Amino acid sequence: MMKQLSASLLCVLGLAITALAQDVSRMDKIGPVVGLTKTEKGVVLKCADESQVQITILAPDLIRVRASFAKPLPEKDHSWAIAKVDWATPRWTVRETTDSVILATDEVEVVVKRSPLLVDFRDARTHESINADEQPMAYDASGALAPVQFDPSAGRFVAASKKLGFDEHFYGLGEKAARLDKRRGFFINWNSDTPGYSEGKDPIYQTIPFYIGLNRGNAYGIFFDNSYRSYFDFGRSSQQRVWFGAEGGELNYYFFNGPSIKKILNRYADLTGHMPLPPMWALGNQQSRWSYYPDTMVEEVVRQYRERDLPLDVLHLDIDYMQGYRVFTFDPKRFPSPKGLAEKLGSEGVKLVTIVDPGVKYQPQPPSAARVTSPQPELAPQDQRYYVFDEGMQKNYFQHRKSGDLFIPRVWPGEAVFVDFTLPDARRWWGDLHRAYVDNGIAGIWNDMNEPSDFLDQTGKNQIDVISNDEGEKSTHAKNRNVFALLMARATYEGLEKLRPDRRPYVITRAAYAGIQRYSTMWTGDSNSSWDALALNIPMFTTLGLSGEPFVGSDVGGFIGRGSGELLVRSYQVSFLAPFCRNHKVIDGYDQEPWRFGKYYEDIIRKYLKLRYQLLPFLYTTLEESHRTGVPLFRPLLLNYQDDPNTYNLDDEFMVGRDLLVAPVLKPDLTSRLVYLPKGVWYDYWTNKKYQGGSMIQVEAPLDMVPMFIRGGAIIPTGPEMLYVGQKRFDPITFSIYPDETGSASTTLYEDDGLSPAYKQGAFRRSTIAATRVGVGYAVTLNAPEGSYDPGLRELRFVVMSDRAARKTVTVKDSGSERKIQIP
Ligand code: GLC
Repeated sequence: MMKQLSASLLCVLGLAITALAQDVSRMDKIGPVVGLTKTEKGVVLKCADESQVQITILAPDLIRVRASFAKPLPEKDHSWAIAKVDWATPRWTVRETTDSVILATDEVEVVVKRSPLLVDFRDARTHESINADEQPMAYDASGALAPVQFDPSAGRFVAASKKLGFDEHFYGLGEKAARLDKRRGFFINWNSDTPGYSEGKDPIYQTIPFYIGLNRGNAYGIFFDNSYRSYFDFGRSSQQRVWFGAEGGELNYYFFNGPSIKKILNRYADLTGHMPLPPMWALGNQQSRWSYYPDTMVEEVVRQYRERDLPLDVLHLDIDYMQGYRVFTFDPKRFPSPKGLAEKLGSEGVKLVTIVDPGVKYQPQPPSAARVTSPQPELAPQDQRYYVFDEGMQKNYFQHRKSGDLFIPRVWPGEAVFVDFTLPDARRWWGDLHRAYVDNGIAGIWNDMNEPSDFLDQTGKNQIDVISNDEGEKSTHAKNRNVFALLMARATYEGLEKLRPDRRPYVITRAAYAGIQRYSTMWTGDSNSSWDALALNIPMFTTLGLSGEPFVGSDVGGFIGRGSGELLVRSYQVSFLAPFCRNHKVIDGYDQEPWRFGKYYEDIIRKYLKLRYQLLPFLYTTLEESHRTGVPLFRPLLLNYQDDPNTYNLDDEFMVGRDLLVAPVLKPDLTSRLVYLPKGVWYDYWTNKKYQGGSMIQVEAPLDMVPMFIRGGAIIPTGPEMLYVGQKRFDPITFSIYPDETGSASTTLYEDDGLSPAYKQGAFRRSTIAATRVGVGYAVTLNAPEGSYDPGLRELRFVVMSDRAARKTVTVKDSGSERKIQIP
């Protein structure tokens, strides 16, 4: 019966997809080119059907295509995702032939065929096609393709179709419950609250309409900057075609030339924003539960952590810290002195993060109720009048329906209202409200439910006539849903920045749109405590990293359902190297803190948490690289080995930076597994055994051991064991040297104060270290460091790891200037 049911369900789903895809090929095509206007940065093409296509050269490797159908391009040109608009126009040319218009930069040639209008991005040197239209840009002129989002005012469907290479691979699209390579996949973007999702569930929480194509080793990127419900088909409906489209808005996309994926990620970060560095303690271990209360329970969790000698930096307060789920308040019985609590935990090295949901309790005041006048309303009773609701109403910052009625969804507090975060003043107000947390010693903010979730209806139908100001455009939910979380996180980040200018903000979000990395880190929402969900961690984290979101993680152990000691250990063996490492559990779930399954499992978890802290110098250096270059910390192998097709579909291993390869066990009862090592020398982290890469090897993986390998040629910097960031100085720093075939190795170490934004003004230290074999010993060069940050005098140790038996260590004092060190 079940089988039959799921078979017919699959059939219906299949039909729905095919129907859509067919619709795309049946859509009306843009008319042929009949005129051309050259602008400073590109061209505007006029088409026979009054359509217009604007091609803008932003950089030699970044080209924007914008089309309007049957009408001129609109004056307004605005996107919440874009961080950089003032590009210095690079050298470029345009020429016309009888059948084409050809724009060229030093890297890319955009050949626009006039009739039918087809865009082909080619390599400027070889003239080979990189990415070409399979059919002209298309739109739904008749309006026959009824938008799925029920909003007739949304506009018309727009789409672009691209040729699909026989061996082309696809990566990106942000948060998808899917494998790494998206080839043959079909995806929808419509931010959705999807608890307990499993592989194939789509859409889930986030929208990042950016993908990378990899064809014969060469990569390009496409960012379809359209916040309406969008669709991406990587060859699901047709063997020849990739298409992407949206249920409204403009056909507006950016083409990124590779050929390297790292270069594309770098440009994508320039365009949509670089992730600022979070405080270093964000890399510490974090613990959460829906919900720890009262304050004594919170203290007990921290006490357990310390008594058990388990590292911990952050504890999360989920929704029950509030007065009846009123955001920007504390429950006076459960948390009579949040500041006192923060100070107490602070002395143990633990910081508090509070959850802040978008739903503001709808609380029209009884006429008799007096206004709360306390300077700290977050601590005063709010059951008569609720200051956040009052102020928001008075300032008219809440969302309304088209009819003018206040929009009242249902979330945790029951009836609630949402802020119109497209209003700059409303964002400022929301940001300022965080004084309630900052004044009480709260260190970071967790934004949840910001799809935005509405218990009355999760499809968005109930919100479809909700208007947002949207820069005066007064647009509907169809356009604004997918950017709601981005703007809420922005308000939060900017508020924290203003309230505590000497500290880096720390924000975590569930939903997102492209550009989110400027404001927030993220986690993958309400996952299951299951082996399948664990296996999804790696493709999800690496995919997010390939989509411009480097700071990612998942509820360690899974959120929903009953876990086990084995599952929890294996889950830590993935997450102890993810930027965000937080154990979290649903309200009615079984306890899951590291010690809950007994000492055997707890001891293993301790080993990995301690290793994470020892690796902090390495992790932080790699995180800074993500900030600066857009290349993520948690990487699929393909990012480091783009020329190796064995990595294109490999998503049960990952790398941290360039040097550390991890192959976790993702199934129960296994004590060994196959690991693929790319070409080159590799060292088993645990045994130091040397391998020649380029093939699969079988390795032991008992429960207390996750297979880890260090790339030959790497130097891994580690610090002392610690229980929280800042407990000890990074003294000594040990550089473990893993020579390559030629006996050389090198690395970079990045350091700063870990807390303030001073690194943006050059207050950091970047040291480069290189080692080469000389006879039986090694010569190490420590170059004069870059930057003005001074970590103080400390010890540096150099250890050659090539031969564990004869390992040699040399210790020197670090004076911050160039040094030559001999290891005999
Ligand atoms: C959502 C969040 C989850 C949180 C819960 C209660 O389900 O995803 O992490 O615990 O809400 O706030």
